[in-house]
Amino acid sequence: MLRIVALTALVWMIASTAYAETPLERGSYLVNTIMTCGNCHSPKGPPAVVAGKDFSGGLRFNAPPFDVTAPNITSDKETGIGTWSAADIKRLLLANVRPNGMPIVVMPTGFYGILLPGDLDAIVAYVQSIKPVRNKVPDPIYKLPVKHETFPGAEKPIKASDLNDELARGFYLATIGHCMECHTPMVDGVEDFAHAMGAGGQQFPGPWGISVSRNITSSKTKGIGAWTDAEVKRAITQGIDKDGNKLNGPMGYSYYAHMTDADLDAVIAWLRTVPAKE
Ligand code: HEC
Ligand code: HEC
Repeated sequence: MLRIVALTALVWMIASTAYAETPLERGSYLVNTIMTCGNCHSPKGPPAVVAGKDFSGGLRFNAPPFDVTAPNITSDKETGIGTWSAADIKRLLLANVRPNGMPIVVMPTGFYGILLPGDLDAIVAYVQSIKPVRNKVPDPIYKLPVKHETFPGAEKPIKASDLNDELARGFYLATIGHCMECHTPMVDGVEDFAHAMGAGGQQFPGPWGISVSRNITSSKTKGIGAWTDAEVKRAITQGIDKDGNKLNGPMGYSYYAHMTDADLDAVIAWLRTVPAKE
């Protein structure tokens, strides 16, 4: 009897050390892969993040009527968010409001309402653990009121049990990864999710020139409907299209490269369900 109990305990210990992810590990995984926070918030060389400066402030988005720079989100008290509480960070991620009451633009907060409460806590814990780096970014300029748009399906947190279903998990990941924010054309300053989700066509100026987001709907002629899963995976994780051409920024290929295979498969399974747009 005693031996059975001891054996069961041993098996349980092995299983939990092999699979358990601490909240910090989970937060690091989400922030540094699918959510690509550092793709906007880290200074870029080129080619890579400037060593030791991760999360200390990054890309400038000079898109009239707005001119904003992704701020320093390290725990530096003066130039970062070291004085923000966990509740402050959550409010920014979910309600798009800073502690001083100011809303923000560009950051895809309209996609984060779907986050599982546990994942939200994990993200906040990880962000608060980022070591301080001093770097002040320019203050934002807003010449029009900020519009906040919620991605359809991201109005409320997903149920934890839904994550066992591959399609639901794929939708969850593609949502918090804001794929459709870049891959949907804008009408009147907001993405037209209702009519053109995934149709592509947004322009992104950068060091690479101007890249145009592509059609990633299931259209066989204009989208990725005729691509194999391996071709889609290569595009997402290596930035190489079906014909072998190199893809440019701002998509965070090198971040997605560190996703688990199961999570990538789930995202691709969900992409297959996006109605074709020609
Ligand atoms: C597409 C680029 C982009 C992504 C992805 C992004 N952000 Fe941001 N973030 C911004 C920009 C730009 C601002 C400032 C906007 C403004 O000033 O109106 C900002 C603002 C913030 C702020 C407010 C800081 C301050 O000093 O006011 C925090 C905190 C933050 N982001 C955290 C995150 C986290 C955590 C993630 C990932 C879960 C993330 N961001 C993903 C672009 C991005
Ligand atoms: C920050 C904006 C942005 C985000 C976020 C983004 N993409 Fe992209 N994506 C682009 C742009 C721009 C291109 C085209 C680059 C080029 O032409 O050089 C592209 C290209 C692609 C391609 C290649 C399509 C083709 O026809 O060559 C695929 C597939 C793709 N993205 C899927 C995704 C998925 C899935 C996600 C979410 C996990 C995602 N993208 C997130 C901007 C983005």
